[in-house]
Amino acid sequence: MSVRVCFVCLGNICRSPTAEGVFRHLVREAGLDHAFVIDSAGTAAHHVGEAPDPRSTAAAKRRGIVLEGAARKFVAADFERFDYVIALDGRNFDDLRRLAPHDEARARLSMLRDHDPSSPRRADVPDPYYGGSRGFEEVLDLCERACEGLLASLRERHGV
Ligand code: 4NP
Repeated sequence: MSVRVCFVCLGNICRSPTAEGVFRHLVREAGLDHAFVIDSAGTAAHHVGEAPDPRSTAAAKRRGIVLEGAARKFVAADFERFDYVIALDGRNFDDLRRLAPHDEARARLSMLRDHDPSSPRRADVPDPYYGGSRGFEEVLDLCERACEGLLASLRERHGV
């Protein structure tokens, strides 16, 4: 049985495709492709169908990480499709909590940076959309640290 993980931000064009790409990269490096289903989605629909933001794609590419997929909106039924629904910021987390149909779905929710032992609790991955290129590098730095922690804890919990 695969461990199913979905990263969720607002637009699904900057932060969550980055987290998805970083996590997939780490999973591949570990030779664990077969053990995971990895996806991302957004709480808003403005960018549905779009490829990841070119600024995110370029920053990731410089680190050897490929971003892929087309933006989609996270829907309540996704709580049945994923074991872990991981919010990139507190607003995404609150929106997902409201959307969750039952306690079991709420129990699948976490904040990405809470998987980084060096991060303060409940910390956001800041939205880079309206800022400069430094913001996209910061998103990558934060996603790399948190995804390393996430992969380590999922490997331990699921014995993979
Ligand atoms: P994301 O970034 O949530 O990291 O994909 C954003 C993308 C688009 C907008 C905001 C944030 N927007 O307002 O269009």
